[in-house]
Amino acid sequence: MKSAQFSTFGGPEVLEIVDLPDPQPAPGQIRIVVHAAGVSATDPKIRSGALNFGRPLPQTTGIDVAGVVDNIGEGVTDVVIGDRVFGISDTGAAAELALMTFYAIIPASLGFIDAAALPVALETATRALDQLRVTTGSTLFINGASGGIGSTAVQLAVARGARVIGAASAANQNYLTLLGAEPIIYGDGMTERVLAFAPDGVDAALDVPGNGVLAKLIDLAGGPDNVITLADFAGAKEYGVHFSNGFADGPAFHAFNEVGALIEAGQFWLPVDKTFPLSEIAQAHRISETGRVRGRLVLTITR
Ligand SMILES: NC(=O)c1ccc[n+]([C@@H]2O[C@H](COP(=O)([O-])OP(=O)(O)OC[C@H]3O[C@@H](n4cnc5c(N)ncnc54)[C@H](OP(=O)(O)O)[C@@H]3O)[C@@H](O)[C@H]2O)c1
Repeated sequence: MKSAQFSTFGGPEVLEIVDLPDPQPAPGQIRIVVHAAGVSATDPKIRSGALNFGRPLPQTTGIDVAGVVDNIGEGVTDVVIGDRVFGISDTGAAAELALMTFYAIIPASLGFIDAAALPVALETATRALDQLRVTTGSTLFINGASGGIGSTAVQLAVARGARVIGAASAANQNYLTLLGAEPIIYGDGMTERVLAFAPDGVDAALDVPGNGVLAKLIDLAGGPDNVITLADFAGAKEYGVHFSNGFADGPAFHAFNEVGALIEAGQFWLPVDKTFPLSEIAQAHRISETGRVRGRLVLTITR
């Protein structure tokens, strides 16, 4: 099978398309023929070595994947060959075949490209909202509301009955309104702009990009216990804020099975900003690294 791998940590140029033996599912795993693979902000961090889960090199890049089940490991009873599934790739998403342990059936109205955009964003946003106890009547501030996780968190929180104030660039203010948030621009004066919407502050605050604003979020949300960061490891230590981490905290994979009902109800939509063939994966990583993606980037893959 073809796979986009890196054998050394570095810039997008370390990615190369190589031929690998077809992987075989172990007990509890399924194998899919990949149709689409999401590229999230985490992928370039892993490729560069900035985020290291201790997996050996070379590695196939990518986590988010969607495709058709073509082989089933011992003990798997919840899918059959031919099912369309999306979820987390155990072996790397940017390849013609992927092994998976955590997956769900793709909602009927979604194609492979839209489904491949979802898994990491859905799992992470759901985990963070659960940890922040976001529920009907909560007022939530999301810093970085227009990317993959931010767009997802806005809509999932609104679907729970929360009021959401979201920060994004000027170009994404209308987009945030479409998602159901009250939009503000990040940068200098952000706290005052949040207070203009919510003079008494907010019940909870979610920091998605980790750009050093935790002290402001603590003030807005009335204490560090009401704040979660997804990317500011140093700030979390300094301010006593919880750094949410799916490995340590337990992942919210239940979100995969819940999103179909929200899509059918017209309450959820994660835009795909741009698609790329597998051969252009380095360009997808370059764009992801700009930190200016609306929704998700997705690779289309055909065997
Ligand atoms: N802890 C976890 O469990 C976990 C899991 C997955 C990912 N992550 C991390 O979460 C972060 C976000 O991931 P993602 O995939 O959602 O990223 P993404 O899709 O690339 O998000 C990019 C978004 O960040 C916004 N942004 C850029 N600079 C900003 C700033 N200074 N203030 C506020 N917003 C800003 C951009 O908004 P504009 O375009 O409007 O500027 C853009 O929409 C990454 O650091 C990733 O590694 C953590």
